[in-house]
Parts: sequence; C-alpha cells; structure tokens
Amino acid sequence: MLVLQLILVWKCLLIQLAACSSSKERTHVDLAMSIDEYYDTVNSKISYTMVEFTTPWCHHCKKLKPNFLKLSKMYENDTTVPPVKFLEVNCEVFGTTICRDMPGFPMIYLIQPRVKPLILPKSETSVPFWRKLWTKIRNRIEDPMWQLDKDRIINYNGKREAIPMKKFIESVRAKDALVERVNNVLNDKFECSQDDEPCQLGKRYVLENLDKLSPKQLGQERLKLESIIKNAGEKEDDAIKVAIELIKFKLQILNHFDKSNEEQINVYDEL
Ligand SMILES: *[C@@H]1O[C@H](CO)[C@@H](O)[C@H](O)[C@H]1NC(C)=O
Repeated sequence: MLVLQLILVWKCLLIQLAACSSSKERTHVDLAMSIDEYYDTVNSKISYTMVEFTTPWCHHCKKLKPNFLKLSKMYENDTTVPPVKFLEVNCEVFGTTICRDMPGFPMIYLIQPRVKPLILPKSETSVPFWRKLWTKIRNRIEDPMWQLDKDRIINYNGKREAIPMKKFIESVRAKDALVERVNNVLNDKFECSQDDEPCQLGKRYVLENLDKLSPKQLGQERLKLESIIKNAGEKEDDAIKVAIELIKFKLQILNHFDKSNEEQINVYDEL
C-alpha cells in the first residue's frame, strides 16, 4: 500500500500538483498520467477517444476545459456502441513525446477505435546479445507500443463549445456506423442477425437488384435514387423520413458496390 501511495505521489509530482488535486472533479475527463496510458487509451479497439491537448499557459485551453468537461458529462448515460472516452493530455509534461508534432494549443482529436493490429517488432531468437541489449535500451526511449495510425485521427477545428463538439462526435459515429453497415451488406460472409431488418433489406437489394444490373443500368439506378432524395427535401412525416433514410442506405450500398466493381475492372486492365 505504502509503495503504491509513494508511486502515486511521485507521479503527481511529475505531472504537476494541480492535476492530482483536481482528480476528484475529473470523473468524466481522464488526465493522461503516462505515455503508456495515452497509447493504451487511443489504441482501444472498442471505443472512440476524444482528446484535448492543452497547456497550463494557453488562454484558449482554459476556456476549452469547462466546455470539454460539460461535453463529457453529456455522455455519462450514453449507451451507443462504440462508446466515447474523454482524455486530457497536458502538453507541458508530454511536449517532446505525445504532443511533439502539434502546431499549437489547444488541439482536439477524435480518435476512432483501432481496427488494424499494432505493428510490433518480431521477436527474434537468434539475435546476438548486444543487439538485444541495444533494442532494450532503445525501447525504453521509444516503446514500440507508442504508435497511432494517423488515418484514425480526426482533427476537430470547430467551435470549442459542448454542443458543436457533440454534433461532431455524433456525425463521425453515424458515418462510421453507416460504412460498417454497408460493408456488412456487401460482405458475402457476413450474416445479418434476425432482427436487423435494414441489413437483410440491403442484402436483398444487392442480390435481387444490383447483381442483375449492367454498368449502365447501375448508373440509371443511382440517378433514380439521387433524384428521390433530392425531391424529398426536409419532410416532417416520420414514415417518409424512415423511407428516405432507407433510400440513402441503398445509395450508399450502390456506391460501394460500384466501387468494388471498378476495382475489379482495374485489376483486369492490368492483366
Ligand atoms: C444520467 O443519469 C443520471 C441518473 O439517472 C441522471 O441523474 C443524470 O442527469 C443523467 N445525465 C444526463 C446527461 O442525462
């Protein structure tokens, strides 16, 4: 126990007293206490991470902090999957590591859940002793786990207020969910669950319509769907709204279906 406490105190001294004393209020935004913790969080496979990179001396950071906290509180009862975690990184502490390439502060990133495995160095058994030693020393400076693929980072540049930030998170999450749905529909190996009607409908749409259309007919189908969406505009009626969402879903499927066909054509061109 005592050892643990000592470690904690030591950490607090390292990361500034302010961070530790305010830990009681920080029930919604975690403060990154170590580089390991930061990379563990942003490399999660199951959640988004919304990160604020701040410094104690930056004026706009001070203004952002309460809004970021307010934002995180809006998610306390959120049950949508994948969930969103909130993290603050003090760039005065991690200036030369986590925050190395940042142009200014505050920065706000939304980091998508990791889908690809981390690329870790192979453990070689026949490596000479001195080389192993060197790798060990080097890894203490630059741990191979400290990596984050840039295509998962979405930089937020909008208003630093809770509502716009929430809208941003929701739009990213909705878009990602749609992409996943479309991919599932187009994946022959994926089976829709019993109660997932849009998925089943999408699969039928591919089998009964898209598979049978020529490239020219696919183009016509696209124009048809696009004009329905355009003419619908903003309708109040809930039933119509649902129908339009379905048409949009079909259009997404069609666009991705077309893309995979195009890729095939390119492959053939090269042969
Ligand atoms: C979350 O749920 C608790 C308990 O029901 C409630 O007190 C709180 O206001 C809710 N928070 C939000 C943001 O809805």
